Amino acid sequence: MPIEQTDKEVVLTHPSDPSTSVKVLLHGANILSWTVAGNEQLWLSEGAILDGSKAVRGGVPLVFPVFGKSSSGPTSTLPQHGFARLSTWEFLGQVSASPLTVQFGLGPENVSEVFRKAWDFDFTLIYTISLGADTLETAMRVENTSNVDWDFQILFHTYFRIPDIQQVAVKGLTGTNVKDKVSKTDYSESNTAVTVGSEVDRVYENVDDDVLITSSGKALFQIDRKNLADVVVWNPWVNASKNMGDFRPADAYNSMICVEAGSVSGWTTLSPGQTWECSEKVKSLL
Ligand code: BG6
Repeated sequence: MPIEQTDKEVVLTHPSDPSTSVKVLLHGANILSWTVAGNEQLWLSEGAILDGSKAVRGGVPLVFPVFGKSSSGPTSTLPQHGFARLSTWEFLGQVSASPLTVQFGLGPENVSEVFRKAWDFDFTLIYTISLGADTLETAMRVENTSNVDWDFQILFHTYFRIPDIQQVAVKGLTGTNVKDKVSKTDYSESNTAVTVGSEVDRVYENVDDDVLITSSGKALFQIDRKNLADVVVWNPWVNASKNMGDFRPADAYNSMICVEAGSVSGWTTLSPGQTWECSEKVKSLL
């Protein structure tokens, strides 16, 4: 069966290779696993909480309508990274057989009373996931169904599984403006290959090029983005990972890197009835 659904998860299996699949938790519409020819591509913490009581530590959490914590405006009363990853989405079904494509939906009716009170706007999110032979495409359609304007930020918070952080480089970021949340400085990226040897938490703004993740000089993932101008690179390293109760094992910062495609350096405003779309296509080159 190319699509299997339980009350908690939806699993897509590639029609010509049963070891290529993607598993989506309805809580957060969080992708938990993406395998290509039997090889897992994403990192999921051994301590990830999947019962809906917390955001999932790993896979692809969805960030909406705010990235991080906002200090002012209507999103300032929301938790870090918003409510999309904390809400249970509806499975809308299959929309294409080739590539195998499904959709999930979220509206105010799926969001807790607390979050609705905090961010009191009507909206529809349609999340589309397509599984190719060696690609995973995620797309989001955001619609304002309110009678007032509202602003949002959005991001696919992808945790990539990597063999060894010391060997990994992220390419395609040269010359872009960086907001560095660790050093609390802004600068222009001078490196052609961004490497990680300590805590990294940076927003690369308006990245033009496709982003490539390499390991020991070999390409692992190519990331194409549409309407997602910014790229966040995050690895908590030793101390920040210890402060996350659901980050396990303790040395797992060696095996993961978050390279997150988003629209987060400013705000997108939607007027009543307006829609906005974005997508990301990750190709596994392993
Ligand atoms: C990243 C942020 O996107 O997500 C980091 O840039 C943050 O600052 C990280 O620590 C994880 O966030 P959370 O809320 O899932 O622990």
